Amino acid sequence: MRIGVLSGGGDAPGLNAVIRAVTKTAIFKYGWEVTGIIDGFEGLLSPTKTRQLTSWNTRGILFVGGTILGTTNRGNPFAHKTTVNGKEIIEDMSPLVLNNISELGLEALVVIGGDGSLKIAHGMHKLGVPVIGVPKTIDNDLDATFVTFGFQTAVDTATEALDKLHTTAESHQRVIVLELMGRYAGWIALEAGISGSADVILIPEIPFNMEKVAEKLLERKKSGSKSSIVVVAEGAKAVGGEMAVREKAKDGYVLRLGGMGEIVGSEIGKRTGFDVRVTVLGHLQRGGSPCPFDRLLATRYGAAAVELLAQKKYGEMVSYQPPDIKSVPLASAIDALRLVDPEGDLVKMAEGLGVNFGR
Ligand code: F6P
Repeated sequence: MRIGVLSGGGDAPGLNAVIRAVTKTAIFKYGWEVTGIIDGFEGLLSPTKTRQLTSWNTRGILFVGGTILGTTNRGNPFAHKTTVNGKEIIEDMSPLVLNNISELGLEALVVIGGDGSLKIAHGMHKLGVPVIGVPKTIDNDLDATFVTFGFQTAVDTATEALDKLHTTAESHQRVIVLELMGRYAGWIALEAGISGSADVILIPEIPFNMEKVAEKLLERKKSGSKSSIVVVAEGAKAVGGEMAVREKAKDGYVLRLGGMGEIVGSEIGKRTGFDVRVTVLGHLQRGGSPCPFDRLLATRYGAAAVELLAQKKYGEMVSYQPPDIKSVPLASAIDALRLVDPEGDLVKMAEGLGVNFGR
């Protein structure tokens, strides 16, 4: 049997660990051949871009960030964009992709991706391609799994940044705002914010009121705190306000967020008169070596994906349901986003400790 593996969407620490686990399990346990597809679904267009994966060329990548296969978060074969004579054309390239999968001799496909790539994988499966999904996103916003790989590393990176910001904020008696990733779900901001002892945490699920934020910071000053730390998820928005969008596609789809940290920082300055600085952690959260938790989870996911292929359980996604790795139908996996519950245990616990969510 020959299987293909690809990584789609934004990268996340642990992608290489999945690729390695898929390759090793397929080769050592089942004697299959593994073809790596370059640059996500783009690699299945013409000319195809692939490389043979072996136990040798996947050696030493468990702890390496990024993906040896490359990825893209802008290539959807069902709505492929090309520019002809300066005009953007959107075409359904799925028949070409199906043809190329068969030309490459691929009998099944492992798709490592977030919401967008898993939707494409599901579409491929509906067209008859035997597909297994592996959930990936640092945002941890897929409901069908307890956690996606890459998330814990992002939380570690963000927490380390907060530890460092505390010391400089205290020296200068400043308010420091840290903007973190989190498009629709505020998990990174919430978990890093609590672990990094932020005073204010603003997340997409709880629209914020700037007055409440300013009140909290003024109160802290009054009670003797020299500095404060405010964490803002990039997708956070004020009550009745909008997300800070940097780039939109022609169809209105939000391609890039960013800037909410600056907006919040400048509002804080105006309302309190405090000396405010803003840091945007950005793609540092996506890069670097996966933490041990993510290495293990990604390895378990990769191996489990091959086991599902061996059982011919196509159209499933591996899912972590502690303590086991199980599977769920891809159709259900792409249905719902995993969002922070504004009245849930974590938020309530943090509020009990005095953390302000801008409400
Ligand atoms: O989905 C993961 C994510 O990191 C989001 O938090 C963020 O909005 C987006 O990717 C950034 O993507 P890009 O690499 O296109 O800037």
